[in-house]
Amino acid sequence: PACKFRHLLPGQHVFEGVLFFGYSPPEVLDAVKFFDVRYDDVFIATYPKAGTTWMQEITWLLMNDGNFETAMKTPVYMRSPFLEFKDTRLEENGLEIASAAPSPRVIKTHLPLKLMPHQIHDKKSKIILFFRNPKDVCVSYYNFYKSSSSFGTFHGDWPEFLEMFREGHVDHGSWFDFTKSWWPLRKQPNVKLMYFEDMKQNPFAEIKMLAEFLGKDHIDDGVLSTIAAHCSFERMKDNPMTNHLDVYSIDSSVSPLLRKGLVGDWKNQFTVKQNEDFDKLYFDKLGQLNIPFKYTL
Ligand code: A3P
Repeated sequence: PACKFRHLLPGQHVFEGVLFFGYSPPEVLDAVKFFDVRYDDVFIATYPKAGTTWMQEITWLLMNDGNFETAMKTPVYMRSPFLEFKDTRLEENGLEIASAAPSPRVIKTHLPLKLMPHQIHDKKSKIILFFRNPKDVCVSYYNFYKSSSSFGTFHGDWPEFLEMFREGHVDHGSWFDFTKSWWPLRKQPNVKLMYFEDMKQNPFAEIKMLAEFLGKDHIDDGVLSTIAAHCSFERMKDNPMTNHLDVYSIDSSVSPLLRKGLVGDWKNQFTVKQNEDFDKLYFDKLGQLNIPFKYTL
């Protein structure tokens, strides 16, 4: 679709209406549906740039009772596999790494609900949804596209990317479709919906709530505080196990993965007109769901 976007590359494909790059090939997406889910799995389901890495680090530490020693030795992308993705640095794809990993697993995915493993519906393993307001997501994704060779190194400009984002012509498809697909599950007992903006505003309280959801309420407040401090933007940016500086598809001199970590940075990117148009689009597509996104703190 959308040949009007000049940087759509030969490696890209559309799977059940969702755009993907070659890192998530059709055969992997097919196999994901038949992935063996375990009762004690924890899935982190996010749209790209919603703060996935942040949530992975927090969740992994909670699930491993604050094992900072291991966290400081092993990159987060090794501890928490990316289900539908083949990382060029690694021999095996995410599916294989996850299949071989010991329980309890903390599995990252950016898939919309319809592409998830079928078994998540029966096994009732835990699912953390981490939402972030779409304007900040879009700006973050724009910078990621510019810095990442996974996307053929995007040379377009902001208006072009904004149009792509609005249309869902980006890796993993439409933010609107992703969000709409997961929203109805938020009240299930095995699902926890959290927001980037809340985590930013009150990390300790959010991490404590998450610990309870994960059945980790025995972890004491001191450890939770240490996790919150370990997962601050500044600390994660300095930490080679979380800052992805070793991920060579990201040119950090263009834009690092941990770029700004702010709420409301979209105001530095959207024009007044772009913002009004985006609000209209949002209202048309998701307005009736009344999702309590915060665009500023
Ligand atoms: P920005 O580009 O707005 O800075 P993902 O991990 O899903 O790719 O998301 C990346 C975004 O999450 C980036 O947003 C990054 O800075 C932000 N992020 C990562 N770790 C963070 C942290 N500890 N605190 C705040 N934001 C964080």
